[in-house]
Amino acid sequence: MVFMRQHLIDPEVCIRCNTCEENCPIEGAIEHNDDNYVVNAALCEYCMNCIAPCPTGAINNWRNVRQPYSLEQQYLWDELPASIEWADTEGTTEALEEEANQILDVAHQGSGVVPAPATAARPQINLWSQGSPAKAIVAGNYRITEAGTESDVRHIILDFGSQSFPVLEGQSLGVIPPGVDDNGKPHAVRLYSISSPRDGERPNYNNLSLTVKRIAYGEHDETKKGLASNYMCDLQKGDEVEITGPFGSTFLMPNDAAAHIVMLCTGTGVAPFRAMTERRRRMGIVGSGKTMLFFGARSASELPYFGPLQKLSGELLDQELVYSRVGAGTKEYVQDRMLKRASDLAELLEDEDSHFFVCGLKGMETGVENSFKQICLEHNMDWDKIRTTLLAEGRYHIETY
Ligand code: A2P
Repeated sequence: MVFMRQHLIDPEVCIRCNTCEENCPIEGAIEHNDDNYVVNAALCEYCMNCIAPCPTGAINNWRNVRQPYSLEQQYLWDELPASIEWADTEGTTEALEEEANQILDVAHQGSGVVPAPATAARPQINLWSQGSPAKAIVAGNYRITEAGTESDVRHIILDFGSQSFPVLEGQSLGVIPPGVDDNGKPHAVRLYSISSPRDGERPNYNNLSLTVKRIAYGEHDETKKGLASNYMCDLQKGDEVEITGPFGSTFLMPNDAAAHIVMLCTGTGVAPFRAMTERRRRMGIVGSGKTMLFFGARSASELPYFGPLQKLSGELLDQELVYSRVGAGTKEYVQDRMLKRASDLAELLEDEDSHFFVCGLKGMETGVENSFKQICLEHNMDWDKIRTTLLAEGRYHIETY
């Protein structure tokens, strides 16, 4: 082979959140220094595990090269080198291009590179960076789980004033906690899904909302989890917060009013689904698209937005609230409830207007997949085939943490 398709990270777009390195199963295939995150061409096996989780898309860059760029070269980049024109290389252009595409096809098989829904609006991304963040003002911070329960979940409203921060349902943003870490470096950006629709938390205001759960310090000592969530949950009205983003260009709401949207979540994973549901509520029921929510929490009093959810009509939102800690022997997860709605889900799985979104705890991913598999088995359907089609058509999106 006279060339290779090299996987590279765009240093201009990358927010250095470490997600790619965390998701890479091969030790050393992705590494970083204080400047850049880089891919080791000798180790990368094109498994693509890093592609979908990247919040900015910086990870999804490729160059056709005869000699791979070294780590040293990549560390020095402020921007990616321009693509080499095929006409500049030796050999026949078409043969080279075909071979490169074949390599990429193989690399993408089962890769989790999922396009956005066909009718999603075009998102804006990376308008604000860590070096040049937007400064939002806290317009409100409300607890949305019952006082006294263990789950302190907040609905936080941020106002962007005259700064441009356009978002779509499903997108996220980055929060820069103030101060520095033990090494004197700024804290890593923490990502949060936006829980308000595109026209603002308050319609036609330049604001948005986040759904943040307080995580106790010390629960995750090594990763310093809890630092950002405590900062966020303690914010007072009028405080200023540094924000990066917006991020996300695939986990997006279909605009088509005929699209069926099936949302599966636990805890604060509800954030993007609150945005999608609110979008549909504000638009009114204008199409044939169903909106269905499977939402798992410890109990009703610890389920974020329990009150507002009760007020939505069944026609607007078909909701299944599932509780795991309401009494001995009654533990139920989202994936268990899916089986109780098996025939409805089977029908939706066969409908090409259906879109499925999963957001929440990592552990639910396998559970949800197993339930889809079981539902398909019971209904004489081939889950593997359906899954492949859904992914290829941007109709199955998973965001777990
Ligand atoms: P559990 O009671 O077993 O912790 P949290 O309140 O921690 O944010 O969790 C949200 C909900 O997700 C809880 O009801 C929790 O149940 C549930 N949960 C935990 N693990 C899984 C899993 N693997 N699949 C689905 N739900 C889960």
